[in-house]
Amino acid sequence: MRLIPISEYNENTMQLAKAVYDGRGRVLLAANHSIHPKILDRFAQMGISHIVIEDADSKGITLEEMLDIPTWLDLIALIKQGYEATAQSPKNFPIRQLLQGAGMIVDEVKRRPIAISVPVTTLAGELQPYAHTVNVTLLAIQMAKQIAYNDLQLRDLAVGCLLHDIGKMLSDIPERHPEAGFNFLRGMREINLLSAHVAFQHHETYNGTGYPRKISGKDIHEYAQLCGLADFYENLTSIKHVPPYEAVEVVMALNGTLFAEKIVQAFIKGVAPYPPGTKVKLNNGESAIITRIVTHMQRPVVRFLTSGEEISLAEHPTLMITV
Ligand SMILES: [Fe+2]
Ligand SMILES: [Fe+2]
Repeated sequence: MRLIPISEYNENTMQLAKAVYDGRGRVLLAANHSIHPKILDRFAQMGISHIVIEDADSKGITLEEMLDIPTWLDLIALIKQGYEATAQSPKNFPIRQLLQGAGMIVDEVKRRPIAISVPVTTLAGELQPYAHTVNVTLLAIQMAKQIAYNDLQLRDLAVGCLLHDIGKMLSDIPERHPEAGFNFLRGMREINLLSAHVAFQHHETYNGTGYPRKISGKDIHEYAQLCGLADFYENLTSIKHVPPYEAVEVVMALNGTLFAEKIVQAFIKGVAPYPPGTKVKLNNGESAIITRIVTHMQRPVVRFLTSGEEISLAEHPTLMITV
């Protein structure tokens, strides 16, 4: 299976490989169906721009590096409830549930050698802001694993990332959401002050051009730096539809300006520029599709589209992905 924009869907050669859900998490269309053009229009109206399909080129690709969608949807529903309850009244903030959600994400990432997030654009528009939060958390934890965080650090980072935008529920002025979130979270006994600082500092940048306080360098807590980079990358790949490999390039170009080198290194080791199912060209002229990532993010296993032969780029150092 592989992920495609719905505009590339071809009824004759492709079938839906993962169910599509509505804004309440109910199945709209189950897997193993072909999709009628009218239904595709409906998806587009709902804000769904990507689907997971199966076709001849993608046979045998399982996408098991991706978080499974029911688990992802459960987490999204939990975060949505939490954020909405807070918007109604901060007293309704379901702290226990949210801490549980943070624990679930940490466990998911820890038990997988590679964790890839599902793009938010596979979901209805109303779920996307919450899916964003879950994806940011997943990405930040995957990065933190590369710099050997312990369980306690992973948990505090996850809590901060899940709640990084909670201030949007508490202030009508977008630029004030970091501070609003911080003031709210710092008053909570169950939440480490460092997690609250993730909300406060996630829009600050290494060179001091961010907001709200324009702090820079080491003054930005490392948790907030991880969250900030994960947030930046998540927005590029989801809202702006930039392909992962291009988004990774953009991040690398910002090393030392918006982001600290240590954080960029963790990102390069922890985030896959070529998720399985991506079609690529190699420097020998062959077209190929990524089938699996075993260890090295930049050197996945690929299958040539013409011969069907599968090789690991980790074992063929002269072969390069060019597109
Ligand atoms: Fe934010
Ligand atoms: Fe965000």
